[in-house]
Amino acid sequence: MTVEEETRFYRLSGELIQDERLLQMKNFIQHGRITTYDHCLSVARKAFSLKCSMKISCDEKALIRAALLHDYFLYDWHEYGDHLHGYHHPYIAARKADMDFALTATEKKAIMTHMWPLTLFHPPVSKVGWLLTLADKMVSTEETLFKRADSSLRLR
Ligand SMILES: [Fe+2]
Ligand SMILES: [Fe+2]
Repeated sequence: MTVEEETRFYRLSGELIQDERLLQMKNFIQHGRITTYDHCLSVARKAFSLKCSMKISCDEKALIRAALLHDYFLYDWHEYGDHLHGYHHPYIAARKADMDFALTATEKKAIMTHMWPLTLFHPPVSKVGWLLTLADKMVSTEETLFKRADSSLRLR
């Protein structure tokens, strides 16, 4: 991201990124040693950077909020013991995020469809949703392969 895009990213994510309820995601592991918080921050940055590099016009604030909250299910899915976690967690995350942060319809739908194509007949329906789905796949693949968090992505 350019310096201008970095500045815009942190301005748009400002209050949410420091919210103590969002910071609860630091207590849960997503992939390897990477917490769900680090994962969501990486996905938000990736989605925003894809949006900027591909010059896609969409609601930037909705994109960042949906990405930061897309895995806001607040449990360690490894201990949850539900092999259907992949199917269920988008709905759990959307419900909890909506209760705590009053999502817009676009944000909520983007979170609910971020696991597509797992949710076969429920694909994303907005540019925000497609960017989130793509960014999540890219970041999850990187994290699973390399099992590391990029220290440059941590909250400054
Ligand atoms: Fe997810
Ligand atoms: Fe994710």
